[in-house]
Amino acid sequence: MSSYLENTSSIQIELSSKCNHLCPSCIRTDFKTLRHTNPLLEVGQEMPMETITKVIESQFFKERVLEVEFCGTVDEPFAHTKFLQILKSFVNEKPEIKISIHTNGSLQNPEYYQELAQVLVRTSPESVVRFSIDGIGETHSIYRFGGNYEKVITNLKAFIDKGGRAIWQTVVFPWNENQIEEMEQIAKTLGCVGFFARPDRTNASKWGEEKIKSLRYNKSTLQSKPSTGDQDYLDGIFNSLTNKTSCVYKDTRKMFFISWDSRIWPCCFWSNIRYENLIKREALEATLFEKYETNFNSINDFEVDQILSHSFLNNDLIDAWRNDKPLKWRCVEKCSLKKVRTSDGEVDDKKHLKQSYFNKI
Ligand SMILES: C[S@@+](CC[C@H](N)C(=O)[O-])C[C@H]1O[C@@H](n2cnc3c(N)ncnc32)[C@H](O)[C@@H]1O
Ligand code: SF4
Ligand code: SF4
Repeated sequence: MSSYLENTSSIQIELSSKCNHLCPSCIRTDFKTLRHTNPLLEVGQEMPMETITKVIESQFFKERVLEVEFCGTVDEPFAHTKFLQILKSFVNEKPEIKISIHTNGSLQNPEYYQELAQVLVRTSPESVVRFSIDGIGETHSIYRFGGNYEKVITNLKAFIDKGGRAIWQTVVFPWNENQIEEMEQIAKTLGCVGFFARPDRTNASKWGEEKIKSLRYNKSTLQSKPSTGDQDYLDGIFNSLTNKTSCVYKDTRKMFFISWDSRIWPCCFWSNIRYENLIKREALEATLFEKYETNFNSINDFEVDQILSHSFLNNDLIDAWRNDKPLKWRCVEKCSLKKVRTSDGEVDDKKHLKQSYFNKI
């Protein structure tokens, strides 16, 4: 038997369904209006401390975990009202742990970022915060709707000032690609340890700045109804099961994912199915919750170690990859067929367009 988790040493955690931004192609955003939240997402929810305690007390965490990454698909980590308390709980249990955080950098104040740095400098020397900054000045908020460039830079400076290791991470769009060199230079001058430019993995580049702005500022538009989805598209995925699956979460990142509602998933793509459309939601129900039980992966109902030894993660997913079973449909969709659209055509999602590390300060 081969377990999905046999080499796992990291956890990726989505702490809430809260964020102060509405980035146009983030799954938390209503993609038809760009001004409301996704009607399929229950916003404003936070993971309870009890879940964190159960993770920390698990045998898995104690024996195996070397890294915790705070990076969800619908959350801003610093929107969780107890973020610093949660961080300290992990660090108190394992002082040497590597912590990675993805943030839009625009919530909280400089004192908060200073305290954050003071906690992180006591952990692994590789701990890092990635600040998502998608352009200089007003360009930043074309994608980061609700963001404020000056505020992010002030917080970034406060963090670096207290010894925090920061990476400036930008998503490359047609409207900011002419700023890449300048962003890299500013990152270096501010004392960031690195600069990453990632391809846009969504439709935002294809929509373009004009369409994004015209949708966003059309104030009469109400929140959309949940999207039904496309049965032919889904059937096409189920008809493509012979595609080879290579799992970046299992093999490269060696991590699994915990969503804001305290469920354990192989990766964020599985958790996200619920927010895409109703047809996919039903497919998730049929392939997981009807096959097993509705709460089989919920930390509210089971211990972390019990969920990790459940047959889904322990055997069935890998068996589905090897034997082309329907259970692997999401993996086929996300990791076998997927290409990323950019203004230059299609690129591999896993590659950074640019990744530079500066001398450590
Ligand atoms: C959904 S965000 C959640 C964390 C945090 N709210 C943030 O935005 O940094 C997770 C990661 O996705 C990245 N991201 C957001 N939009 C993206 C896009 N269109 N293409 C590629 N990565 C994107 C973010 O920069 C961040 O590193
Ligand atoms: S800041 Fe992050 S979580 Fe918030 S809307 Fe943008 S990409 Fe999504
Ligand atoms: S969708 Fe499947 S193959 Fe892709 S990262 Fe997730 S578990 Fe791995």
